[in-house]
Amino acid sequence: MKPIHMNSNKEDIAPLVLLPGDPLRAKYIAENYLEDIKLINDVRNMLGYTGYYKGNKITVMGSGMGIPSVAIYAHELYHFYDVKKIIRIGTAGAFAPETKVKDIILGTKACSHSNFGYAYRKTNDPIVDSSEDLNNKIIETAQELNIPIKTGVIYTAEVFDVYKNIDHLKQTIPDNIKPLASEMEAFGLYNVALDDNKEATCIVSISDSLFEENVDLTSEERQTSLNEMIILALESIIKN
Ligand code: HPA
Repeated sequence: MKPIHMNSNKEDIAPLVLLPGDPLRAKYIAENYLEDIKLINDVRNMLGYTGYYKGNKITVMGSGMGIPSVAIYAHELYHFYDVKKIIRIGTAGAFAPETKVKDIILGTKACSHSNFGYAYRKTNDPIVDSSEDLNNKIIETAQELNIPIKTGVIYTAEVFDVYKNIDHLKQTIPDNIKPLASEMEAFGLYNVALDDNKEATCIVSISDSLFEENVDLTSEERQTSLNEMIILALESIIKN
């Protein structure tokens, strides 16, 4: 069977992948951080590039938004292209008052009300782990680079919770689980990785918060936060 949503040659995909949600962000990362880049996917305009970062072959590709989209690309990358490690880099909303806009958060676990875990791998577990090894490398790298990060649970929403109040769902999250951020992909990515014994994790920067007023980020602030995340992800994923 051939992949349906990617038209890449097997040798053109690196074992190490960065997966931003936005395909144009993948293009930005490739053009600004990688050398010798080659476009490796354009099916549905889900742009992917492979290039070299400090001599290491890296693929960077968009995942689209939401669990089903990220899961399709993660599945194809792991199953058809022998990808070993995926780091999702994205934006998220604050899910707790202590989470502030511009914070960078490493999702050591993802929690969701989604049925995806059951659909994909017959587990009803609402909480899934990311790769401990990748997480340790990210924590270590963040210390080395002096990039402050917070680590904890990420909530993966199925509706964009800026547009729709999800307090009825929040109330059913056990008290001992306190998600720091909400986004829409990590739970899908972690389940796909766990099912195939591969490595995945997710770093997000907080772009919006219902707990803080007047926190619209300038485009410069957004860019700085994004650049820090990109460097953190690249430096961590190439660590042996
Ligand atoms: N919720 C879900 N996904 C998001 C958010 C949010 O507040 N911000 C960026 N992606």
